[in-house]
Amino acid sequence: ERVASFDYVVFGATGDLSLRKLLPALYERDRDGQLPDDGRIIGVSRIGLDGAAFRALAADALTQHAAPLDPATTDRFLARLDHITADAQGTEGWDALASRFDGVADKVRVFYLATHPDLFGPICQRLARAGLVTARSRVVLEKPIGRDLASARRINDEVGAVFQEGQIFRIDHYLGKETVQNLLALRFANALFEPLWNSGGIDHVQITAAESLGIERRGGYYDRSGALRDMVQNHLLQLLCLVAMEAPASLEREAVRDEKLKVLRALAPLTGADGLTHSVRGQYRAGAIDGEPVPGYLDEDGVAADSATETFVSLRAELRNWRWAGVPFYLRTGKRLPQRVSEIVIQFRPVPHSIFGASAGPVMPNRLVVRLQPDEHIRLRLMTKEPGPGGLRLRAAALNLSFAETFKRRVPDAYERLLMDVVRGNPTLFMRRDEVESAWEWAEGLLGAWRDSGERPKPYTAGTWGPSAAIAMIERDGRTWHEEDGQVEDGAP
Ligand code: BG6
Repeated sequence: ERVASFDYVVFGATGDLSLRKLLPALYERDRDGQLPDDGRIIGVSRIGLDGAAFRALAADALTQHAAPLDPATTDRFLARLDHITADAQGTEGWDALASRFDGVADKVRVFYLATHPDLFGPICQRLARAGLVTARSRVVLEKPIGRDLASARRINDEVGAVFQEGQIFRIDHYLGKETVQNLLALRFANALFEPLWNSGGIDHVQITAAESLGIERRGGYYDRSGALRDMVQNHLLQLLCLVAMEAPASLEREAVRDEKLKVLRALAPLTGADGLTHSVRGQYRAGAIDGEPVPGYLDEDGVAADSATETFVSLRAELRNWRWAGVPFYLRTGKRLPQRVSEIVIQFRPVPHSIFGASAGPVMPNRLVVRLQPDEHIRLRLMTKEPGPGGLRLRAAALNLSFAETFKRRVPDAYERLLMDVVRGNPTLFMRRDEVESAWEWAEGLLGAWRDSGERPKPYTAGTWGPSAAIAMIERDGRTWHEEDGQVEDGAP
């Protein structure tokens, strides 16, 4: 369906996110006929580019990052693009930007801030001063919103001085991933799981977001952030919220976010000794990914020679509420791990009593795996009888719902959905101010525990699953990380 007429103004238009994700996502929406005829995309950056040079840059980025281009869409899309050189903290360029809106009818205006978070406030002030903020304007804030609770609050105040909360879209692109939204469908469009979805039925939950990539060319940003700020405070906690929240009454604007907030507020603090016992920080050393040698973190560009920034974190979180008391949520993320894989594993409780003798083999607990990427699927491990006339032998097998096989469609990138939700004015899959701040409050507790301990992150070799302490952490509880338990047979999870 077409959406209301709109213009997109992208700050940081020549940056990595814009070229790799935002422009390709808008391109795909254009290909699908979702962009209005008069919809413009105005890039803003510090770099002195005219419209033609920006279109050339964009064309190049699309060739690299969008699915095979089709000429009609490409012509139409490029004709929408323009570029303004502006200084986010100065005066240059703002009149030029304002002039682009002279006499433009009252349509939706989206200001997408794909810049350093310190610029969010200054940009909003200048947008207001230039008279660009209308009632139908929206602002999108890329993560991270600050680097701790105090800076997040400051940024939220500054942006909030110009835009109403309902106009502010704090993006967490994990919420736009198809399989993440499928979690909502799985939990609330099926009656099957919900009765077991609590400490009575579930033994523990694992949430992994592993990447084989290193820090790419983002050393300057990453070294000041680290894995907890970059991935856990936002993406992993959002996934945890969707797994753990109560059923919202509807998908109306605030209903889902209200429930997520309650989960964040129920997180047991990981401060002091608790933080140190229940978390492991790692930093990669030189190693190999797919047989190719890769440098260690400390040798990456933009990283301080003695940096203590973590590129891996695993932790054991708990929720203090009736549904989840006593159920550990193991979270893990890292750079330079053996493969790119993000998944949520729900392990159910074992059968209370086995009627099968030792010769039947072990009765393994049911396990539901929601694979976010790659190869999106939902798999349920069931115990079955091995075929044959002999004695009864058990075997784990999988009910496997592969999205590629079932729906035979391109899986749209997370940004495609979210960029259009902004235009539609639907904030359900965006983070509200109180969520972001609550997540920072919890993250800050753990950051403080690490800082006070003075310990350095534990080294791990690039291409391995992180420091051995991360494996020890979960094995201490008598459990294993999903990949490492060696029980994957015939695709059984
Ligand atoms: C970003 C992080 O938010 O998410 C990156 O800043 C990370 O460090 C990326 O690589 C991962 O996203 P995806 O969609 O590739 O899993």
